[in-house]
Amino acid sequence: MAGLHDKFGRAITDLRISVTDRCNYKCVYCRTGNEGALYGDLPFADYLRMARVLVGMGITKIRLTGGEPLLRNGIVGFVRELAKLRPQGLKPPSSAGANGTAEGAAFHATPSLEIALTTNGHLLADMAQRLKDAGLDRVTVSMDAVDPDRSARITRVPNGFDHVLAGIRAAREVGLGPVKVNCVLMRGFNEDQIIPFGMFAREENVIVRFIEFMPLEEGRTWAPSTVVTLDEILARMSEYLPVMEIEHGRSETARRYRFEDGIGEFGIIAPVSHPFCGHCSRIRITSDGKIRTCLFSVWDHDLHAQMRRGAGDEELAEFIRGVVMKKEERHHIGEADFVPASRTMVHIGG
Ligand code: GTP
Ligand code: 5AD
Repeated sequence: MAGLHDKFGRAITDLRISVTDRCNYKCVYCRTGNEGALYGDLPFADYLRMARVLVGMGITKIRLTGGEPLLRNGIVGFVRELAKLRPQGLKPPSSAGANGTAEGAAFHATPSLEIALTTNGHLLADMAQRLKDAGLDRVTVSMDAVDPDRSARITRVPNGFDHVLAGIRAAREVGLGPVKVNCVLMRGFNEDQIIPFGMFAREENVIVRFIEFMPLEEGRTWAPSTVVTLDEILARMSEYLPVMEIEHGRSETARRYRFEDGIGEFGIIAPVSHPFCGHCSRIRITSDGKIRTCLFSVWDHDLHAQMRRGAGDEELAEFIRGVVMKKEERHHIGEADFVPASRTMVHIGG
């Protein structure tokens, strides 16, 4: 079987790279109000080499995350370099060389390479055009309320809302679409924002995705009762307007819905009430160069250590193949045997 597969037969085609675990927001579902520990980050050249090897192994989508990826100086240049990994820029194996170029039989041409980025949107308005020009395909922006005061309460940043809204609009205008807006619903904070977000999706022509709150936050405040479930979201949205489900891709995280009048789309990402682990296609690289095979992993696999000891590309590929074989079958949220992940979301990247 060509490409990367785990022992359950799942094809791994989706790579997320966290380029920093710093964040300028302190959202209640993610962080405590204080500065937390930092694992640090790597030179872009190191992420680029990891990405190049993984693209050679069958990765077709790279999502840049953080922390907040736009805080990282040089992010635009990094996108430009990643874009060169697209098929037309992929050097054939015969041009194999030392570090960072394709060498050996592990590599095959990739059919396409999509590059996306998840951001809190605060710095996006000024950067959207440059990111687009560098080769970024799409952005997803986190926004948890359609209301400045409520946003400030959730992000713990005053006056952020206008920046985020400007970022969303700029992304749409420069063609970084379809722009998706991630809204983590947390009972007691924003469950009343479902209908306002339905209106927002229709007015702003963006795809709003409601996410069930998962136990990945620094403050360990998660409890089943804090989760606003898919059924509840659908029931509430249907009080606003009739909705219908539309088809979603097999490995897509979100179930997709549109309003029956044809205006506006939203999604629901329901890892708690409707887990999608059976179709998971993702692996993650943390900002300090560790591979995580699941958001809920209790261990990391140190890819950067392999690079530091001088491993060639084929050895890195071998290491990655071994790690992917250890990918967890599923998460255990809400079960008696649930063990919290060894890192929190701000140190993984969503
Ligand atoms: P696109 O479909 O490419 O737009 O992206 P995506 O669906 O992968 O969405 P995105 O990267 O924005 O992820 C959305 C959210 O889904 C994340 O922020 C997480 O909250 C959740 N999520 C993503 N991947 C996983 C996963 O593997 N497991 C679980 N439990 N949740 C996930
Ligand atoms: N549960 C669900 N989603 C989360 N995110 C961050 N923390 C959590 C959590 N505990 C989402 C944010 C952001 C993405 C990176 O991860 O909405 O869009």
